[in-house]
Amino acid sequence: MLIPDRWYAVLESREIAKGKPLGVRRLGRDLVFWRDGEGRLVVFEDRCPHRSSQLSLGRIVGGRLQCPFHGFEFDRAGACQLIPANGQAARVPKVFQCHEYPVAEAHGFAWLWNGRPRDEYPPIPWFDGLDGLNSATTSKEWDVDLTRAIEGLLDVSHLPFVHARTIGRDRRTLVNGPYTTLDDDTIRVWPSNQPDEGLPALRPTEVPPPDGPAMLEFRFPNIWVLKIAKSFQIVNVIAPIEEGRCLIYLKTYLRIGGPAFLARLVGFVSNLYNRRILAEDYTVIRSQRPKVSGLEIGEHFIPADRPIAIYLQRRRDLIEAAAEPSTTTP
Ligand code: FES
Ligand SMILES: [Fe+2]
Repeated sequence: MLIPDRWYAVLESREIAKGKPLGVRRLGRDLVFWRDGEGRLVVFEDRCPHRSSQLSLGRIVGGRLQCPFHGFEFDRAGACQLIPANGQAARVPKVFQCHEYPVAEAHGFAWLWNGRPRDEYPPIPWFDGLDGLNSATTSKEWDVDLTRAIEGLLDVSHLPFVHARTIGRDRRTLVNGPYTTLDDDTIRVWPSNQPDEGLPALRPTEVPPPDGPAMLEFRFPNIWVLKIAKSFQIVNVIAPIEEGRCLIYLKTYLRIGGPAFLARLVGFVSNLYNRRILAEDYTVIRSQRPKVSGLEIGEHFIPADRPIAIYLQRRRDLIEAAAEPSTTTP
């Protein structure tokens, strides 16, 4: 289950062209993303209220979405404005209304609200320190649930095994801590792995609070950053397609001196390398069962799993809090 009442990053803004509807599955629903005459993003259920054809196969005509089957035209609020067979002069019955979803655009992504529409929405979650950096994106669909993908990104003890030929080559098998904090909707992790020299690992509570910023940050419900340096950071957006399936956007943010093409080239090479690391993760993470993680599935944690335990606990708390009946009286 997805945590309700949250903004989820689900697509890159640039994937949604101005003149063409885009049909994708996200948050377990078939959706059509399109832009009206002013370029504003609109999202409907990808199903025409007339005879249920996919609206994403249609066209955008005069700032409206036109169904491919009988040409009905829908405005950005989902209301049908024209039924060609009835004639331009005819009134359109209100039943021809598309199901519309709250959507926003920020930081290069389209964000879908997973919950009932509201008058006011909370701010879009994002990370500080990325503005002004160049970026390059790649993406990969995974036959993996969002929960397992996120756990993998918070797992600091798998590196020497899953990534023995890349980032875990140095065989730092011993995990001190990791020192981990939960601050509202942000989990911060300071990994501190080292080669095993015969001393026991320090438990998360035995590690002194670090000075510098955390190397890993996760913000609910679905964004993660690895801060290699201030001017070199890697963001993963884990877009939920449906239960058991997600799409990972891997975005390298960087600033380097020299011509702009150099930053693009470095971003491209970084993405290639990170795709390889993700592929290593995928071989193992796709095998985890049950596909959807949780605290009550009979797994046993070690101290190094603390970030994962914190994630699962907070996820459960948020789901339970959303399910509680509102305490406000009418
Ligand atoms: S099915 Fe869409 S107009 Fe008929
Ligand atoms: Fe990994």
